[in-house]
This record gives sequence, C-alpha cells and structure tokens, in this order.
Amino acid sequence: MRNSPFRSESCSICAVILLVQAFLVFASFHSVALAAQQPATNDARVGTAPQHSDGPWWKHAVIYEIYPRSFQDSNGDGVGDLNGITERLDYLQSLGIDAIWLAPIYPSPQVDFGYDISDYENIDPQYGTLADFDRLVAEAKKHNIRIIMDMVMNHTSDKHKWFLESESSKNNPKRDWYIWRDGKGVGPDGKPLPPNNWISDFGGSAWQYDPKTNQFYYHEFYKQQPDLNWRNPEVEKAMFDVVRFWLDRGVAGFRLDAVPALFEDPELRDEPYTGGTDAYGDRKVSDIYTNNLPEVHGVMRRLRALIDSYPGNRVLIGETYLPNVEELDKWYGGVKHNELQLPMDMQVGFINKLDVSAFRKHINEAENDINGNWPLFVFDNHDNQRSWDRYGDGIHNAAIARVIASVLLTSRATALMYYGQEIGMVTTPPKRKQDVRDPIGIRGWPKEKGRDGERTPMQWSDTKDAGFSTAAATWLPVATDYPTVNVETEQGEPDSLLHWYKQLIAMRRNDPTLRDGKQLTLDENNSSVLSYVRQGVGGNPAIVVALNFTPSEQTISLDPAIAGITDNTVKTLLTDAPSLEQTNSLRNIVLPPFASWIGSIQ
Ligand code: NOJ
Repeated sequence: MRNSPFRSESCSICAVILLVQAFLVFASFHSVALAAQQPATNDARVGTAPQHSDGPWWKHAVIYEIYPRSFQDSNGDGVGDLNGITERLDYLQSLGIDAIWLAPIYPSPQVDFGYDISDYENIDPQYGTLADFDRLVAEAKKHNIRIIMDMVMNHTSDKHKWFLESESSKNNPKRDWYIWRDGKGVGPDGKPLPPNNWISDFGGSAWQYDPKTNQFYYHEFYKQQPDLNWRNPEVEKAMFDVVRFWLDRGVAGFRLDAVPALFEDPELRDEPYTGGTDAYGDRKVSDIYTNNLPEVHGVMRRLRALIDSYPGNRVLIGETYLPNVEELDKWYGGVKHNELQLPMDMQVGFINKLDVSAFRKHINEAENDINGNWPLFVFDNHDNQRSWDRYGDGIHNAAIARVIASVLLTSRATALMYYGQEIGMVTTPPKRKQDVRDPIGIRGWPKEKGRDGERTPMQWSDTKDAGFSTAAATWLPVATDYPTVNVETEQGEPDSLLHWYKQLIAMRRNDPTLRDGKQLTLDENNSSVLSYVRQGVGGNPAIVVALNFTPSEQTISLDPAIAGITDNTVKTLLTDAPSLEQTNSLRNIVLPPFASWIGSIQ
C-alpha cells in the first residue's frame, strides 16, 4: 500500500474511516472511469487514438517512454525486447497512452545502452528483428498507440561503418564526416595534447587521440561515441535518409537525442572555466562553444520540412535541456513554428523541489512566452533520478507523486511519462561499484553512481523478478519493493497511484477543456498551493485545479474572475482527499497535506 493516499501520511486515521474513505474515493474514481468509456468522436485515422477536432494528435497526447532493456523480457535472457513490449500493449492501452517513445533499439555495442548506434537501419538482435519491429508497429496501431523512435544524430558508435572508414586514413572520403583535428603538440609527460580544453559530458577530455593518423576526434559523450560533423552536407543527407527509412516503416516521429549538441565552434575556442570540479574530477567549463549553436536551427527546419512531407502529422520531439524559455522558443522556430513541434520543456519538470512560485512561473512561461507553440512537459526519463525521489520528502511520497501527476496531466501541454512512473517506481542505485552497469557510474563512483537506478526492470507483478523476466539473472536487479509496488497489485487498489494516473489520463482524453482550455493562474501570491483554471472550451465548463505543495493543511479561496467567471459553484471531478469529495464552492476549500483537487465550475 505504499501508494495509498491514506498510508502513514495521516497516521491518526482509524481503520473504519479508512474503509469509508476508500469507498468514497472508489465511487469518485468510478464516475470518471465511466466517462472514459464513451465512444471516440471524429476518429479520422484507422487504428489510432481518437482524433478530436482540436488539432494534431500529438497536441493532446500522453507519450510514454519505454527503456526497452527494462520493460518486458519475452525470451528469458534477462533483457527486455520488442516482443515483450508487444505483449504489454493491452496494459498500455488501458493506461490510456497515445504513443510510445522507444529508447534506441538499433544494433549497438551497447557501451551507452543503445545511444552508440552501429547501424541505423536495423534492430539489435537482443531486442529482436525488423519483422518484430513491424509487428510491434502494427499491433500498437490496433491498440491506438503510435511508435516514436529515438534518433541519435549527434554521434554514432565508433563501430559504425562510417566511423571505421573515417578513422582508416586522413584521405578517406568519410574523414570529414567526423571532427578530426591536430593536437597541440606533446605535453611534459610525452603525451599528445588535445586541440583545446573541451570536456566530455561523461568525464575527461572530449578529444580522443588516434596514433595511426596522429589526430584527435571529438566526442561529447563516451569516446566510443564520436560526434558527426554536421558542417559536412553529406552527413545531413545520410542522416535524413535514415529518417526516411523509419518514416516509410510507419513510425509516428522521432525523439532527437542530444540535439542541441550537433554543432561546435569551428575555431575550437577554449571554453571559459566556470569554477570547481565535476563528479569526474575535471575542471568545470561552460558549453558556449559546444552546445546550442545557432547553426542547428537550419538543420531543424530542413528536418521539419522532411517529416511534414509525410502524411499523418509525424512529430519531432527534442531532448532540449536549455537555460530558459526564450531559448526553448527558438527550437519551435518561434513565430514561424517551423522547427520541432515538441522540444521538451525541462524548466517545469526539473525544478526538483516543491516550490510553488517556481512551478507557477515556468508553467506561465510555457503558456504565454512561446509564441503560440505547444508545450511538452516531462518529469521523468532514463537519465535522471525518478521524480518519486526528486520531489518526495520520504514521508508523503505517494501524495506528492499524485500532485506531480496532476500538474503533468491537467496542464495545457503534451505529457511525457516514463515507464514505472505510473506505479511509483523508486530510483534504486547500485550499492557497490562492482554492480554498476552504466559506465559513467563506474568512472564517477561514488559521486556519480550512474543511471542504473532509474532503469531497473518494470514491476508487473509480485512474482519472481516482478514478472519482468524468467531468466536466472536480469540485466539490472529488480527493485526490492516489487511485492507491493507493481501493476497487478495496484490494478486491484482503487487508491493506487496507477489508478490515479488512469483517471487523470481518461479525464484529459475526454474533456475538451483539459485538452485545450487556456491555463490561467489563480491565487498567485500563495506560496503553499498551486492553483489554476482551465478556461472552458466548446461550451464545456471551466476546470479548476488546486494542489497543496506542503505537509500542512491549507485553506484557500479562489476567484476565477481572471477567466471571466463570476460563479463560485463547483463540482469535484477528482481528488485524493475524501474530505474534498463534496466540495461545491471555491470559497474556503481546506486542502489536507499534499492533497490534489480538480473540479469543474458549474
Ligand atoms: C541523452 C540520452 O538520453 C542519454 O541516455 C545518452 O547517454 C546521451 N544522450 C548520449 O547519447
């Protein structure tokens, strides 16, 4: 019952009250579930989620990231695979998602678990075959789910044939496909000195020396991930051919890995030092010469034109860690809307503390400062500690997870989730260095333990290895809380986090106001409660959301005048606080600690 809203968080509640509350919550959830079963309207596409009249599918989508190694193992080798994902499509459909983003499944030496691609037009045998992939796309379509590929354009594996050719000699026609440079001579220790002070994101110099040709190549990530030279037009042509290969196979779009890193300063200027050292012991440097260079936008515009030449609203999602909303807006193409449809907004999801004003500020910016473009919110992915741990206080984690889910799914934004987020999977980092699988965790131990903790196998049931695999050993161990935190158990608990996610997703799918209504801040000086109104759409009522970000009870009175509403009469649509079930006015709402309340204005 870790995900129960009533667990030790409200320690004085007696068992009888618990039962009554559970019934009330169930009754409330139940009414929303019925709404979710209404027939889809205006579904113009075959085998895809309901197409409402309010824009392309991705605008209202819930996109679910799957880390294929860890989702479902279908052949008992301890590693997840494509057929495993296909087996779980019924579950994903019942959750209500619209699309799967698959972390890389291409052939790869797996140094960076697939982000080092050695062949862009095939499937790594440990995940399956192209036929398995085609079957996944076809079966997913029957479940109204689209498939989005991860596209790694910044670098290849050092085992990719392009790089093997490139490194073979200075005169090879592919030499210039990567970034090769002379070093700065030899240091006092007799070792060749790199061309400049650039540091790899994964530790050490970003330059790797090649004794055969006496030059260095640049790698933003591991040395087994040489960066492509996007100033060479042949690189763009080759990569766009790859994009076509997958579009022709029916994928719905791409998540563009590390895409702000495509270009580097051609003069190779040293990065300024910013003070201190990182987890790997390197002096910290800025990234003004290696990240988010303006040249990248030309590539994005051409890529957008390419995907727009295909039917069916294919989508480009960006892995866009950027300093602010002004920079983010450029990734959409600003007023021209001609670059990515959905560069990820990392400002909201990675605040990493329950700071109401920071949430309000960043949500408002996403609503108002991106020139009418459409935000994509995300709290969890395979590179960061799970939001359960980043936002949880160790006592109220379940309620806090519901608050986070509410922000994600009641905001006017496309929602991106990560497998296991919906059941409250925790980050489980390795305890000993010898157990670490992610190379950055080996290099950075113990300061940087790597990303294994957020990549542990999906927890399906309370059986061996959580139903993930029948192998004697899984590639990463299953987290020890799986006997209680798993899909099967939570499916049977009306007050589980899984049930909460399902209700929110169903509401959002069926309510034009939640899909499209303008989002306006309420009670904007309140530093304990985040509240906002979604303006009614198509004659449907406005919706108000109030989320208590604190461990104490909070009383609020909300005035929705900003949305042109004078009436205060409301009806509860969804709450995890039984005491709020009967709320019928926006005056004096008493929110228990970390409570979520969503209501419609009558
Ligand atoms: C971002 C990916 O999400 C991460 O997992 C990977 O290690 C780097 N890019 C390099 O591809």
